[in-house]
Parts: sequence; structure tokens; C-alpha cells
Amino acid sequence: MRFLETFVTLAITVGSVVQAVPTYDYFAGPAQQTCNQPAIRKEWRTLSILERVQFIEATKCLHKKPALLKKMHAGTTTRFEDFATTHKLLTPFFHFTGKFLLWHRWFLNEYERALQTECFYKGTLPYWDYTIDGATANYTSSPIFSSEPWGFGGNGAYKPDTTGMLPPGFFGGGCVKDGPFKDWKFHVAPGTETGYVDRCLVRNFWIDYQEWIQQSVEDKIMEQKTFEQFTIFTEGTPMSGWEGIHGAGHFIVGGFPFGEGTAAEVYTANLEPTFYLHHANLDRIWAEWQAVDPARRQYDSSGSIRPRMDWLDAETLKTFPPAGQVTLSSDLSLGPMTGARGDIKVGQIMNTVGGGKSIPGLAGKKGVLCYKYAKSPKPKRK
Ligand SMILES: *[C@@H]1O[C@H](CO)[C@@H](O)[C@H](O)[C@H]1NC(C)=O
Repeated sequence: MRFLETFVTLAITVGSVVQAVPTYDYFAGPAQQTCNQPAIRKEWRTLSILERVQFIEATKCLHKKPALLKKMHAGTTTRFEDFATTHKLLTPFFHFTGKFLLWHRWFLNEYERALQTECFYKGTLPYWDYTIDGATANYTSSPIFSSEPWGFGGNGAYKPDTTGMLPPGFFGGGCVKDGPFKDWKFHVAPGTETGYVDRCLVRNFWIDYQEWIQQSVEDKIMEQKTFEQFTIFTEGTPMSGWEGIHGAGHFIVGGFPFGEGTAAEVYTANLEPTFYLHHANLDRIWAEWQAVDPARRQYDSSGSIRPRMDWLDAETLKTFPPAGQVTLSSDLSLGPMTGARGDIKVGQIMNTVGGGKSIPGLAGKKGVLCYKYAKSPKPKRK
């Protein structure tokens, strides 16, 4: 253990020398408003051990910083939890709507920015291409679940099913018992509750779900011709027979909705640190889909403003416009967390390297992003 601690300290100290990613911040001032040198987001296992440790340490740092939203929600005690509360507050407005991928793209950028500007992180947000693990005998041996300081740790402790609703084949259900997030505690309440609770990071690997992290699932998504179809196939529709690769990235970690794993909670799934790598993977797939036909897809943002699934209560539904499609001029909000920087328009995040560039049909607004995805190390497709 002594060696590991020394290693981790060393990793953080020399980190800035080893790797320096150009940081881009649209809000930082005119000098930085052109995307000349996009940052590169890489697949988790292509990061060096040192880079992995730096990402894990930055994540832990964020969970030590005081929250901005504590006054609104007592359970929001850290910066890491600010992101969970933000996701919770806005969940009804982007899940199962045309904003699903758009909102997460902007949210991930904000998370990456917090790691870089508040926790001295010099790298970029990695992504997790779980189809690589889907091609192995058992995805639970993925290096992402390593219990070393360069992994996210493994399954939760075994806790017998109390719901009676879990199918057989679950071995977790309790607090994560190894790795850097072993003793993580949260105070954000699950679901729509706003109070202060005391809980841990729970995992419940769902072995049977390996069939949903196959390359064939990603291929099916890539075949879709319109953005609306693409986003529906990516997000998936619960109980429809197509859970999508989005559902899979949650359920292989957190279990079925009754498995009680953090990753499987709709409102606060991002208390699970792998959430960000999972959603970066969806964002990568979308960016690759856009690049197939940029003329038609770069600024294609169709999809319903109202949820396509009947899952919200009547009160919440009243806060939606009666109908309509998501367009480039629709608002994208991260709520109170972004403070004076405020909301942006959908058109501003459609191009991951569009920072500082004008947007077709959206006068006076410019792109805010500046990153690319490195190709996944998965085997070449035929
Ligand atoms: C996969 O590995 C886990 C241990 O991580 C084990 O519990 C499970 O039975 C394995 N599943 C299969 C199908 O081999």
C-alpha cells in the first residue's frame, strides 16, 4: 500500500510535466475563442497508467470541493454532487426527448472543465468503449474495473435481493468494496427527493447484459439515417426490447432498475464515476455518426421537445411547451450551476470542433466546443 501511495503522489506531482493538453474555454475571454487545437478525448485503456491515476485523482478532488448548490439542496455537499443535483433537477427535460445527446454533450464539457479548472487536471475526459469488453468472455474483467489506483474498482458487496424482482445472476447490490472509490459517501437523495441522505456508491454487475455491449448494437445505431432515429436507438426505450447501448452502459455497472446500483438510478446515475466515460462514449458515437455525412448531420438536431415516453407526472409535464421539435435555437441549460455563464443554444454544441465558429441560421451565436475523439482501439470492422 505504501508503494501505491507514493506512486499516486508522484503521479500527481509530475503530471503536468508528462502531459499538457491545450485547454480551451469559450467563456475565458476573446483570446481563447477560436478552436485551433482541439483537445483529444481518448479511450480509457489507451491512457497510460499515470494518466488514468490523474483522472481518478481529479475525480476524487471534485468530491472534496464544497458544493455550489448546497443552499438549494441540503444533500448536495460537494462539487461532484453539484453535477448529480444538476442532472436530477433537469432529468425530465432531456431524457426521452430530442435533447438527450445534446444536453449530455454540454454537461460532459462542463464536468471536464471543472476537473481542469478546479482540480488541476491536465488531461481530457476519457471514454469507455465497452464493446471491447463485450467481445471478451466476461466484461467484468475489464481494466476499467481494476481495483488498483488506476481503476474504478469492481462490483458492490453481495447483498441479497430484497425486492424479489431481480432475475438470477446478480452478485453485488452493496457498497463498492475495492479500488479508489471504496469509501465514497454521498448525501444527494435518490430520485426526485431533495433532502440529505447518507449512502454509498452501489454496484450490481449485470452479467446477462453483456449482449447489449456488442459491436453489432453500435453498428445498428450507426445505420440510422436521421438524428431522431439515431438518438432513439442510442438512448433506448425501457421495456421496448431495445435498451440501446445507453441502457447497457448503465445496467452492466448498476444492475437492473431493481438491482439498486447507483448507475441504474435515472435521476442521479452520475454519482457513479464511470457515468462520464459511458456518456463520453455515446458522444463519440454521435460525433462519428455526424462525420459520416457532415453536410446533413453536423447541424441536424431533430426530435421532440416533449418526452416520447409516458413517464412523468402531470405537474412536471405542464412545464413543457405543448409540442415542438428541438431546433438549433432551442435552449440548453445546466441550471443554476453555471451561474453568470448561463444557458446556451443547441446550435452551439452541434460541432465538437466548432468553438468560435458561426452557426448556420443562428445569428450572433458561436460554437463553444473544442475537442475530438481519438479512434477506439477496438478491432477494425470489415
Ligand atoms: C463473470 O465474472 C464474474 C466475476 O467477476 C462471475 O461472478 C460471473 O459468474 C462470470 N460470468 C460468466 C458468465 O462467466
